[in-house]
Amino acid sequence: MATIDASIAPARPARRTDWLGRSAIFCYLAIAAGQLLFVAFILLYYYPPTLTGNFAAWDNKPIIKGFVAGDTAGNIFFAVHVLLAAVITFGGLVQLVPAIRNRWPALHRWNGRLYMLCALALALGGLWMTWGRGTWLNHIGAIGITLDAVLIVGFAALAWKAARQRRFADHRRWAIRLFAVASAVWFMRVGYMAWGLATGGAGIGKAMDGPFDIFLAFANSLLPLAIAEIYLRAGAHGTPLARQATAALLGVSGLVILAGSAGAWMMMWGPYI
Ligand code: HEM
Repeated sequence: MATIDASIAPARPARRTDWLGRSAIFCYLAIAAGQLLFVAFILLYYYPPTLTGNFAAWDNKPIIKGFVAGDTAGNIFFAVHVLLAAVITFGGLVQLVPAIRNRWPALHRWNGRLYMLCALALALGGLWMTWGRGTWLNHIGAIGITLDAVLIVGFAALAWKAARQRRFADHRRWAIRLFAVASAVWFMRVGYMAWGLATGGAGIGKAMDGPFDIFLAFANSLLPLAIAEIYLRAGAHGTPLARQATAALLGVSGLVILAGSAGAWMMMWGPYI
């Protein structure tokens, strides 16, 4: 536990018993549990058919546009996308653990470069699949994920630049923002499941065009980003009350993530592997 504390706990001198630091660790562990389930699903569902060329098997579960006979470019983009999805999701979790960064700084640097390359490839490849290949259900969803891609590219550039210039406090802030938006597609799935469990699916349209769909199309990146921003600010110069309120926010977020991740495994991922 204490080893995680140093990186995800606030930038201010570490107070290890502080509620904000504890909640940040709890929230990280909830995210890690949910993202490891996502990685397991990708490794078990997408890797075997993709690595053996059996692309038609992608469509054994409902997706918008997976394998299309004759569309070599589109199929290759999809293949690369799902292969990199597991790398970036696992790599992001590793990158946030300070024990790894402190003990093996070279691993942190190389994993960081790999993470940023994957982020760029997923964002740019995803943009092409959305607009070039026409993989979308409605325009709101397509615009929402486009915003996410723009944020990923922008934050990756700023995190990389700050690291190159050895501005490590800035690097940490941009890297946390990058992690928030690069996790958006995972968060969307978890968000749908948590909302579904809580409300039975209120506001979800048949063509994913209901009020909740529209909200989540943008909230999948902007909500984690806002929470990350509140956390960064409370950690850097928050009053004791602000730190406690932020600790409560992170605690609730962690619980929602755990519920949504369990739901995603039971409904979206587990049944297909
Ligand atoms: C950066 C992190 C990302 C990860 C980890 C990721 C992961 C995935 C995964 C696992 C799939 C397979 C579909 C499924 O089983 O649900 C997928 C499909 C797809 N992704 Fe991404 N993705 C990311 C970013 C993006 C971005 C930024 C865009 C768009 C700008 C995008 C566009 C797409 C599209 C269009 C599909 C095909 C969807 C379908 O046919 O149903 N992805 N992605």
